[in-house]
Amino acid sequence: MTVLLDADTVLARHQAAFECAPDVPARRELDPAGPVTVGPLAAVSGRDEYVPLTDGATVRYANLDYAASAPALDAVTAAVTAALSEYASVHRGAGYLSQRSTARYEGARATVAEFVGARDDDHVIFTGNTTDSLNLLAGCVPGDVVVLDVEHHANLLPWRRRGARVVCAPLSVGGTLAAVEAELARRPAALLSVTGASNVTGEVLPIRRLAALAHRYGARICVDGAQLVPHRRISLRESGIDYLAFSGHKLYAPFGAGVLVGRADWLDDADPYRYGGGATYEVIGRPVARDVEVAWHTGPARHEAGSPNVLGAVAIAAACTELTRLGETAIAEHERFLVELLLAGLAGIDGVTPLRIWVDSDDRVGIVAFAVDGVAPREVAEYLSAEHGIGVRDGKFCAHPIVSRLGVPDGAVRASIGLGTTESDVRRLLDAVAHLVSGRGRGSKQR
Ligand code: ALA
Repeated sequence: MTVLLDADTVLARHQAAFECAPDVPARRELDPAGPVTVGPLAAVSGRDEYVPLTDGATVRYANLDYAASAPALDAVTAAVTAALSEYASVHRGAGYLSQRSTARYEGARATVAEFVGARDDDHVIFTGNTTDSLNLLAGCVPGDVVVLDVEHHANLLPWRRRGARVVCAPLSVGGTLAAVEAELARRPAALLSVTGASNVTGEVLPIRRLAALAHRYGARICVDGAQLVPHRRISLRESGIDYLAFSGHKLYAPFGAGVLVGRADWLDDADPYRYGGGATYEVIGRPVARDVEVAWHTGPARHEAGSPNVLGAVAIAAACTELTRLGETAIAEHERFLVELLLAGLAGIDGVTPLRIWVDSDDRVGIVAFAVDGVAPREVAEYLSAEHGIGVRDGKFCAHPIVSRLGVPDGAVRASIGLGTTESDVRRLLDAVAHLVSGRGRGSKQR
């Protein structure tokens, strides 16, 4: 049986090993042998962090956990630092810095709208993250919702709460499209909400085809873009997507903001997501009735009550600008090289099985989940961290139904890449996994 250690315990063990072994070299380079050609595509935070290993050495951290939270782009850090020096209240003050902060906040909204190809009458609402965006939208849909069981919990539980119809997705893209069509044909729905790319396998769904399908049956479509937006350029206008949700912390902008963008009518007709200042046009006291009457704003303000997160919004806008500057093609090529290297390397290691949901999917973002025969996912992840300084995620990735259905009830190990990932990071992971399964790593004791 594997003993699961919490993060504090793992860290304490690392620190204890580090402090007790003063004689070992302070730093060890674990870069793989042979020429390494692909460096990072962009500068990100944490790129030169050295982390302790169990033998007391330190090594440069290989961050292969972008799908959970991506590091900040340097361009994002610079934009947030500049905004911080002029930080003041947004939509609440006449002072010069309040005006500057308000302009930054609304400028960020315009930048995001441009980045996702929003239609002129779409609303861009700043939220906390994807989960928050989808909970907000769940309160606005005037009818039935259809979802797939492949979703991570953010795109499953807010809908389940309001009685959504959950379709068990066949394990092929063709089968999934047919199952969605059958469900929409069986009974009308107001909304189909689907992931753009699986957070478990990175496989991409054909969003335009799903949008056309939903519209054919009179439904709208919401795309959970948490894993897609950091890797692919999406245009609402061109794809037909009605609503798009995504997180700053997966888009190299970890400052606590997310986005919901889409058609205005449902958003303006719905009850405000939160009640409070900023969402109100006017509040009139009625002392005799011991009550107040409220006139709510329409537009994004309706769902953004409370002082907004201007730094989070600025961060997301800066990420959008930087991704545009880097270019869709360069990003795709960088990530394709690394993910193909990762897949080819894992395929060459006995006892390692990458997970797939849609066997006929021919597109994937930089996410690969895999199982290692005879070694629990947590044990693999701890080994990679403690002995190689590599960060991955393990478990069921907040997507319990699909992970269980893929035949790995204890979950899997997930490596995910992005703009700061290098060929060296990927090769270090492959070397470490090969070392483990060859019986030389600590996990071998369980085999
Ligand atoms: N959905 C996030 C992940 O995949 C939390 O890690």
